[in-house]
Amino acid sequence: MQRLARQWQRHGTRVGFVPTMGYLHEGHLCLARVARKRIGNSGKVVVSIYVNPTQFAPTEDLSRYPRDLKRDLSLCRSTGVDVVFVPADAGMYPGKAAGDFSTHVMEENLAGRMEGAARPTHFRGVTTVVAKLFNILLPDLAVFGAKDWQQAAIIKRMVSDLNFPVKIIVAPTVREADGVAMSSRNKYLVGNLRPQAVVLSAAIKQVRAMVKAATKPISSTRLRSLVTKMVSAAPDARLDYVEFFDPKTLLPQTRVTHGSHVALAVFIGKTRLIDNGRL
Ligand code: PAF
Repeated sequence: MQRLARQWQRHGTRVGFVPTMGYLHEGHLCLARVARKRIGNSGKVVVSIYVNPTQFAPTEDLSRYPRDLKRDLSLCRSTGVDVVFVPADAGMYPGKAAGDFSTHVMEENLAGRMEGAARPTHFRGVTTVVAKLFNILLPDLAVFGAKDWQQAAIIKRMVSDLNFPVKIIVAPTVREADGVAMSSRNKYLVGNLRPQAVVLSAAIKQVRAMVKAATKPISSTRLRSLVTKMVSAAPDARLDYVEFFDPKTLLPQTRVTHGSHVALAVFIGKTRLIDNGRL
C-alpha cells in the first residue's frame, strides 16, 4: 500500500483518506463522498478497514466487533472508492505478541477527558494507528466523523503537533430517521434496546432547546441533572458521562451557552453509545 501511495505521490495524484473499522454504514459512505468531493475525480479515495486492537481495552468488544468485509467492499465499490486497504494485525503490529512493538503516539492534553477518562488506553491506540495509516497512505486529506468529536480534535492536534502534511476534515454526524447517530455498534441493539438509543439525541435536542430559550448561560449542573433524569427514564439505559465544553479546546464549561458543545456516553444494555452536538 505504501509503495502504491508513493507512486501516486510521485505522479502528483492527490489522495483522500477515510479510516474506518469496517461494518460500514451510511455515515462512513458520507465520509467517502466528502473525500471524493474534496479530492476531485483525478484524485484517489482510499478507505481503510481495520479493527484496531490497540484501541480496545481487554474488557471491551474487540472479539465481537461486527465485521462483514464482503458487504463493505461492495458498498465501497458502489460509492466510487478507488482502493480499500484492509491490513491484517500481523502487518500493522508485526512482533507485537513478542513484545517487539514499542512505539506509540500519545496526545497528552485533550485525550485525558470524557472518552479518555472512561477508556484510558483508547486514544493512545487511535493516535498510534492513525499515525501509522497516515505514514502508509500519505494522504493529502483525511475525513473523520463529527460523531467522534473528541477523536477528531485529538487527531487535528496530533497532525499539527507532529507536522503530518495532511488536512483533517470533520464531516457532520449522519443520523437514522429517529435521530440515533449511525454507528456500527447499533447492530448490538436488539429488541427493545434499539428504541431506547434515541435517548442520546433526544437529550442533546432538549439541552439545545433550553440553551436557545435562555437569556443567559445555564449552569452545567442543572443541564447534567436534566440529562441524567432523561437517561434514567429509559429502563435499560445508564449514563456514563455527560460533559459540556468548549468545542475547540474541549475544556469543560460550568456556564453553558450558545456555541458550547455537549457530549455524552450512555450504556444501552451492554452497548456503550456516544453522541455530541453543538448547542
Ligand atoms: O473512528 C474509528 O472508526 C477509529 O477510531 C479509527 C479512526 C478508524 C482508528 O481505528
